[in-house]
Amino acid sequence: MFLDAPGARAEGASGTAHLNAPVILALSGSQRRDSYNARLLRAASVGAQRGGATVGFIDWEAYPLPLFDPEVEDAALPDTVLAFRARLAASRGLLIACPEYNASVTPLLKNAIDWASRQAPGAPGPCFSGGVVALLSASTSRLGGVRGLDHLRDILSSVGALVLPDQFALVQAQHAFGEDGRLRDQRQQAAAEAVARRLAEVVRFWR
Ligand SMILES: Cc1cc2nc3c(=O)[nH]c(=O)nc-3n(C[C@H](O)[C@H](O)[C@H](O)COP(=O)(O)O)c2cc1C
Repeated sequence: MFLDAPGARAEGASGTAHLNAPVILALSGSQRRDSYNARLLRAASVGAQRGGATVGFIDWEAYPLPLFDPEVEDAALPDTVLAFRARLAASRGLLIACPEYNASVTPLLKNAIDWASRQAPGAPGPCFSGGVVALLSASTSRLGGVRGLDHLRDILSSVGALVLPDQFALVQAQHAFGEDGRLRDQRQQAAAEAVARRLAEVVRFWR
């Protein structure tokens, strides 16, 4: 991750593109249609744009990653893995929103991190070392997924990412979004935006 890609316009990017704006990649830990975490990423991403970044979104349908298998990795990285790693490499920061599954991260996200975290011939990377990441979560529970974020923070730190202390966990996500895609509670909307904005500000000055 996080090779310089000055002025790059990310696939699936939204909002105003700034000349030489760093690209932040937004990654949901859920591929569920109508995922609350994907919706939270969209709501928060306004903050990254205000912070001077361009935001691209990973659509998991375009990156159907197989379950990590070291023998497959040794033989040749699958095309979808290479394409996913290329998206990471072209970004300067990651904004992740992940549901909590049984008090931890989702298998989808853990699998993606595993595929991207290792040195592999012919692929950029390892993808996380030296990169900057900010964390969000959305859950239908009253805890908002914070236990999963603790695990995610540990995992990403172990592969060399700088995980910002700022994070936001959305509780009872099934009631939280308005028709316009923003969070109904303005304080929550501002808190989610603030995490993304801080990420944009840090990546602009990082390195
Ligand atoms: C297998 C599984 C385990 C779950 N475990 C938790 C949990 O430990 N804590 C929690 O807050 N929610 C848990 N949930 C509820 C999810 O947080 C909730 O379904 C959330 O909306 C999923 O995110 P998404 O809307 O982005 O797909 C679990 C859901 C599933 C499917």
